[in-house]
Amino acid sequence: MPGSAPRSDVPIDMPIDMRSDTVTKPTPGMIKAMMAAEVGDDVLGDDPTVIRLQDVVAARLGKEAALYVPSGTMSNQLALKAQTQPGDQVVLEDGAHIYRYEGGAPGVLSGVQLTCVPTAAGLLTWPDIAAALNPDNVHCAPPALVCLENTHNRAGGRILPQEEIVRIGQAVHARGLRLHLDGARLWHAHIASGLDLADLSAPFDSVSVCFSKGLGAPVGSVLAADRDTIARAYRFRKMLGGGMRQAGILAAACLYALEHQLQRLREDHRHAAVLATGLDHPDLAVNHPVDTNIVIVDVAGDGGDESLLAHLAGQGVLALGFGPGRVRLIPNLEQSRGDVDRVLAALNTWPGSGN
Ligand SMILES: Cc1ncc(COP(=O)(O)O)c(C=O)c1O
Repeated sequence: MPGSAPRSDVPIDMPIDMRSDTVTKPTPGMIKAMMAAEVGDDVLGDDPTVIRLQDVVAARLGKEAALYVPSGTMSNQLALKAQTQPGDQVVLEDGAHIYRYEGGAPGVLSGVQLTCVPTAAGLLTWPDIAAALNPDNVHCAPPALVCLENTHNRAGGRILPQEEIVRIGQAVHARGLRLHLDGARLWHAHIASGLDLADLSAPFDSVSVCFSKGLGAPVGSVLAADRDTIARAYRFRKMLGGGMRQAGILAAACLYALEHQLQRLREDHRHAAVLATGLDHPDLAVNHPVDTNIVIVDVAGDGGDESLLAHLAGQGVLALGFGPGRVRLIPNLEQSRGDVDRVLAALNTWPGSGN
């Protein structure tokens, strides 16, 4: 794996941070690439490194054009704004990041009505979507866009079955609607499934990918789509203050991540599997298939999640509360196999919530 020498253990006096795969620090190789970046003024359209990143991502995802933006939230919201009109209906899964964790932005920025479809495991199917789409009736918000998330964060990093995505794409397009992918962790689906990034992206009109999750860049996401959609998103990016000047320094980190830190995601996936299979505690369970790098631990007992988080912190392990009775851990590039064993030991020695 180029650029990814095995990690040494996190020093014993430092926390092992598995709250997210966003907590990673730039590696020495990445910092060197950032320092060497050729830059221009991206608002004036002449930063060569940003242009290269956009071209590389568009090509990897098989889309006509791409736009570099500061965050996954901005990328998703630009996709909504560029592909809807105020008053339109947008259909997505109930646990979708766009709905749960983007500050209510679809209502504020695009004026759209969200229809959120609950599913058992986060895996939307075409029949779920068909049942949620409004009829062509003056009483209802007209459907415009369907959004999927691959991998699905709240569902535990699940990979959506590709046959179902293809079926959804065909059906959505047959109705004249558009399909957006929140692919913040599409890299993980690619590495774990072996499917090509362009094949994973093909059913979608627009795809958002993040470089600050798992891949280890400090900042940045890219929205890829057809030229017209990107032209619209470009105007809205400026309007929202997302135009950055010598952004090539940041784009260089993304290019480095793509070249040197994509294949090593396998290691995070292995570490997540070790956590899930090594869990040995009567009050803790992982109740989802661990497809990629996310492990959601279901915690029994009233206040069990808070008690577990406090215990882990006392053992030098940081995890994230993920709703009542749920704690999320994401192994990431800061950690070695030895660190994973330390985390497992901390989990398995939790005294329990005491009720
Ligand atoms: C699935 C998913 N989509 C979008 C985002 C938003 O990314 P950002 O934090 O860069 O805005 C996240 C963030 O963790 C995410 O997990």
